[in-house]
Amino acid sequence: MAQTLLSSPLQGFTDYRFRNAFNKYFGGIDTYYAPYIRLNGKMVIKPVYERDLQLKHNKAIEVIPQVMTCNADEFLFVIKYVQSLGYTELNWNLGCPYPMVINRGMGSGLIADPDKIDHILKRAHEETDITISMKMRMGYDNCHEILDTFPILERYPIRNIAIHARIGKQLYEGGVDLEGFQRCLDTSAQKIYYNGDITTVDRFREMTDRFPSIDHWLIGRGLIADPFLPQMIKDNTTAYPEDRWEIFSKFHNTLFSEYEQKLSGAKHVIMKMVSYWEYFAQPLPNPKKIVKMVKKTKTIEDYDNAVAQIFEMVRNE
Ligand SMILES: Cc1cc2nc3c(=O)[nH]c(=O)nc-3n(C[C@H](O)[C@H](O)[C@H](O)COP(=O)(O)O)c2cc1C
Repeated sequence: MAQTLLSSPLQGFTDYRFRNAFNKYFGGIDTYYAPYIRLNGKMVIKPVYERDLQLKHNKAIEVIPQVMTCNADEFLFVIKYVQSLGYTELNWNLGCPYPMVINRGMGSGLIADPDKIDHILKRAHEETDITISMKMRMGYDNCHEILDTFPILERYPIRNIAIHARIGKQLYEGGVDLEGFQRCLDTSAQKIYYNGDITTVDRFREMTDRFPSIDHWLIGRGLIADPFLPQMIKDNTTAYPEDRWEIFSKFHNTLFSEYEQKLSGAKHVIMKMVSYWEYFAQPLPNPKKIVKMVKKTKTIEDYDNAVAQIFEMVRNE
């Protein structure tokens, strides 16, 4: 079965700069979900979201914008905004697990409120012609919450429900709950996509064996930690390209120069790159040491030297 791979959004990481650099050097991703738009009570789209979604910044890739809200007026405002940019689909985030979000009844905190979900979807479908897709956890408190939303979601032509197989309370701790995910498959009549902890080709193979009906997979952190992963999945291989580190270093340098142009001062650029290295280092030997090496740099020159040393280390592994 042909498998579709989607980039699961990470706010602060998978912006248009990352997406374009990723697409240029690695590929393997069919569609990129953009990190969520959040309005915070005002009907204003922040410039950071505007830049991220402008078509001129997303020419070579297919992007689906995302919103996180529990308010129908906000939802409609964002629908009209993304439509004005030319998008035909909006993804709704019912997955975010953070207390600040949950306390406001958003993200995974909204899953236990099917009436509100119904109200928002009703208005969106009655008042606009956008396609809506969902990105959900299985609940906030327990993995059964999502089951009560399925009869509501089935009233609408939802394109798909991407399910991160955890509950909000877990944050990112503990494993994914594959039995809970199977219950979703058994209960929902709609198109389900899988999301959660796909970090290696072998793991992807395990998941396709376990869920043969799934043909759409979202990869989030695994794709930053190992950007070769999606194309290796597509090629059904566990072998990296021979010029793995050359490709990776070109990607790194592109990302670096993008952020160097955007952010002011070495400190901010280095902090940004350290946040990526926290992922990049994960599949490498001695990840803590690698992160420490970049974290302690204070100037761009120091940073460049640290990165050169890291590449030297990993090439010789
Ligand atoms: C730092 C961070 C930021 C995230 N931002 C978003 C976001 O903007 N929208 C969203 O739907 N999910 C967001 N997520 C969740 C991921 O998209 C994904 O669902 C989750 O990490 C599980 O998939 P994975 O194991 O493949 O990473 C974020 C996760 C992290 C760790």
